[in-house]
Amino acid sequence: MESDDQGRSVFVERLAKIALALFVAAVVVVFVSARSQARRADDEGQQRGNSGKLTEAEQQTEANAERMLAEGKQTFRFDTFGDEVFWGDALQLHRAIEGAALGGVGPGVSPNTALAVGLKVDSDALPQQLIARLKQGRVNLDDPATTLALLRLNAVLGVKGTFNSTGSLQAVGITCALCHSTVDNSFAPGIGHRLDGWANRDLNVGAIIALAPNLQPIADVLGVDQATVRTVLQSWGPGKFDAELILDGKAFRPDGKSAATLLPPAFGLVGVNLHTWTGWGSVTHWNAFVANLEMHGQGTFYDPRFNDAAKFPIAAREGFGNVRSNPDLITAKLPALHFYQLAIPAPTPPAGSFDAAAAARGAVVFNTQAKCSTCHVPPIFTEPGWNMHTPAEVGIDDFQAKRSPDERYRTSPLKGLWTHQKGGFYHDGRFATLRDVIEHYNTFLGTGLSEQQKLDLIEYLKSL
Ligand code: HEC
Ligand code: HEC
Repeated sequence: MESDDQGRSVFVERLAKIALALFVAAVVVVFVSARSQARRADDEGQQRGNSGKLTEAEQQTEANAERMLAEGKQTFRFDTFGDEVFWGDALQLHRAIEGAALGGVGPGVSPNTALAVGLKVDSDALPQQLIARLKQGRVNLDDPATTLALLRLNAVLGVKGTFNSTGSLQAVGITCALCHSTVDNSFAPGIGHRLDGWANRDLNVGAIIALAPNLQPIADVLGVDQATVRTVLQSWGPGKFDAELILDGKAFRPDGKSAATLLPPAFGLVGVNLHTWTGWGSVTHWNAFVANLEMHGQGTFYDPRFNDAAKFPIAAREGFGNVRSNPDLITAKLPALHFYQLAIPAPTPPAGSFDAAAAARGAVVFNTQAKCSTCHVPPIFTEPGWNMHTPAEVGIDDFQAKRSPDERYRTSPLKGLWTHQKGGFYHDGRFATLRDVIEHYNTFLGTGLSEQQKLDLIEYLKSL
């Protein structure tokens, strides 16, 4: 009896336990599903308003975002801000493009020459007929007249031609897309769909400017002769430009090498506080600076830091810290331009371009032993906050840092690093490969990485 009773009570106990477990499970299911429903409702509430529709204010915000994106894209790709006055009227660059046979000077710039100096052609701007003839090899790519036809189609990235009524080139201007976009080469090398925000590391900016028949306006500002300006421009090489030259006149570093810096990408910048290699300011600060003083558009620019005559003798003398043009063709375009730039994501690397298992191990190295993430904080890969470091903190010389107001280097955001491996790494491309970058840090930070850890870290950097 006793044992029977015991047996029954064990059985009852078990039943009770099972019932309890079932009850708990049911409660959890109900709770989780209620929560996920609540969250869904919450999400929808956020998107739709409580009535299930966008409120008027929300509608305005969405419409604003759409309009800003479209306007900003247009500005980034096509706006010269009236800089034809400089590149056309003053430098006469359009005459070098035309060539003597078409009323300009010199041999002219054929499409093959243009592609050789890194200019890119937007295949989406080409009519089907032209595409077909190009495919059949029936377009003369050695004839400057073909370049003019491409300019008429607005197909050369970042270069805008103005034509007069007789059909000849009256002026050219440049846009942001010149240096900060490229193409995917889907049609041919240098010809394809636009990739806004990518650094064009093939572009030889110096060689292009050096084509201009009249470099006197640049020579005047720098206080040198035209031959010297040409020598300086030729010293830059592909993928580089010297934005500080017109501020301090320093064309060469103490070691005799060019003072030009690499063209950085203009994507993946959202969430990043300071911009440019040396952290001059926000995206919109730099946009305004470049549009007014590098592209030579007509607008307004204010930055009293330029009045420091010891650091920026040319800028101080020329009054670059306070530019006022009438009409102002730039300021009204800055908001949408800023918005568009912040919207361009860093592109994801193509499948198969890195070893995923090694990259996963490399992420651990990056975030622990190698100390990379103390400065390159994921997922923005720069510091949230004042993202600047003294030259001593990254173990390099101070030449370029000293050419900027804060005399520091900005922690480079690393997303999309795979798109700009050409031309090297760091502001002047001093490290030719990712391996060189890692060796530098390993020695400088004393992190004692093994060969395997270095290889894994390289794969991780390629995966960002
Ligand atoms: C002639 C080539 C050239 C043109 C044209 C040009 N840029 Fe740049 N851009 C550069 C270079 C070089 C730098 C790096 C400058 C430095 O660090 O001193 C830079 C830096 C930048 C940065 C900072 C990126 C970062 O990593 O923080 C932004 C943003 C930018 N440019 C936007 C623009 C916009 C917008 C335009 C058009 C208004 C434009 N650029 C036109 C060459 C160019
Ligand atoms: C003390 C802060 C700091 C640490 C730690 C650090 N970096 Fe950097 N990193 C920087 C700064 C600042 C720059 C920009 C240097 C310049 O402009 O020349 C930079 C630049 C780079 C670049 C070049 C990006 C480009 O566009 O050319 C790479 C790649 C890089 N770091 C990777 C790493 C890796 C990998 C580690 C860890 C082994 C690491 N960094 C550790 C601050 C840091």
